This record gives sequence, structure tokens and C-alpha cells, in this order.
Amino acid sequence: MLEVDAVYAAYGTARILHGVSITVNVGEIVAVIGSNGAGKTTLMRSISGLLPPTNGSIKFEGKDITRRRCSDIARAGISLVPEDRDLFVGMTVHDNLLVGATLLPKRERAVRIAELYDLFPTIVEWRSRTVGSLSGGQRAMVNLAVGAAAKPKMLLVDEPSAGLSPQAAEAMFDLVQQFGQSGTAILLVEQDAYAALRIAQRGYILEQGRVQGGGPSSELLNSESIRKAYLGL
Ligand SMILES: Nc1ncnc2c1ncn2[C@@H]1O[C@H](COP(=O)(O)OP(=O)(O)O)[C@@H](O)[C@H]1O
Ligand SMILES: [Mg+2]
Repeated sequence: MLEVDAVYAAYGTARILHGVSITVNVGEIVAVIGSNGAGKTTLMRSISGLLPPTNGSIKFEGKDITRRRCSDIARAGISLVPEDRDLFVGMTVHDNLLVGATLLPKRERAVRIAELYDLFPTIVEWRSRTVGSLSGGQRAMVNLAVGAAAKPKMLLVDEPSAGLSPQAAEAMFDLVQQFGQSGTAILLVEQDAYAALRIAQRGYILEQGRVQGGGPSSELLNSESIRKAYLGL
């Protein structure tokens, strides 16, 4: 479904990604793990068109989307859930969802918002509250729902657990997993390798802008070197 092939990306002269290749199949949850500064967010930005690759190619459903505009990539069905949870804090949860759904034709939006409340039942009770009045954990859930609002075929989820308490982080991973089970493919980027691999079918290890390994989550969770480097075991 998503084929990232030998992608290079840079911020000006600072080269960050050095030939990254990953794939995500229909219905899969795939994790990209790696330490702080490895290039995980940069990879997400390259896929979603915020930072077009300098080299390499990205295909989605067989179509080349390398260096296409963000809006075109979003319309193709890829939605980014950014780690900074940049929501409209003065607006209600419901109105934030409506903003997230603006890619959809007007008449479909209300139906989609109702679907979102079914998919994310915990957020229903906050629907009339402003995002600014929510806790970090609640805001993270709303951020995920806003990313899902336009009915994407694939969700790119960047560090869903960042800054959350262990309980709130666990709730987020449960929610990402449930959402994946509803049929949307997910590329999940996380520093918490253990939590990410537990809900993903496959994983890649990204270090210093290069893929250093990968495979089925069960294999990665059992590998001695990965347990030492990423799982603190
Ligand atoms: N806007 C930017 N300009 C220059 N360098 C950046 C920018 N954003 C990130 N970087 C650098 O790119 C590298 C990878 O960052 P990032 O993709 O955010 O890593 P991760 O998400 O894995 O923590 C880091 O060395 C970081 O300092
Ligand atoms: Mg990051």
C-alpha cells in the first residue's frame, strides 16, 4: 500500500534521512522505532509532503506521490497525526473534529463525526468542551480522532505516548490498536519500542537516518540485541 524506496531528506544542508526504505501493507500496523533524533518525525514529514524527499520515491496504492503537495497526499488518503498535538485549543472537541473532516464533501461530515464517536467512544463526553480544558491524555486521544476525521486509508501516528503518564500512554496504544483493527493501515513512530511492537505486526529500526533492521514484531521483541538496545531488558 505504501512503498518508501531509498528516501533521502534534508533540512537545508542538514541531511537527515539516508536512503530509507519501508513498506506498509493494507490493514497493517507497522512500527518505526529508534532513539530521539533518529529521523522518525522527518520520515513522517517526508511521506506526508511537509518535507519533500531530495531523492528516492514514495508510492501509495501504486501511485507516485514523491514531492506531491501536502493537500494532494492528504486527498490520496494519508493523514498525519503530529506529535505536537497542534489542535485549536479555544474550540470545542466537536469543532476540531469538523475541521479535521473538511477534506470530505460537506454532506458527509456529520455522518463521519458520528462514526468517529463510535470509533472513539471515550471522547463523546468531552465533545462540547474546549480542547484547552482537556488533560494531556485526553488531548492526545482527540488529536488521533482529528487525524482520522477525513477517513484516511492510512494514518501516520507520530509518538502517541509522548509526554503522557504510563496509564494515559497505555490508553493511547489501545486506541491506536483498536483503530487499526477497524481497517485503517497505520505507520506508528515511537520511542517506546516495547509498547509500539506490542500493537504492530511488523517493525523497523531507524538509527541516524538509516533502517538498521526490521521484521515481525514477535521476532524483534525476542531479539537479544534489540531487547538490550531498545527495550531496556
Ligand atoms: N527543522 C529542522 N531543521 C534542522 N534540523 C532538524 C529539524 N527538525 C529536526 N532536525 C534534526 O533532524 C534530526 C532528526 O530529527 P527527528 O526526525 O525529529 O527525529 P526523531 O523524530 O526520531 O526524534 C535531529 O538531529 C534533529 O535535530
Ligand atoms: Mg520525533
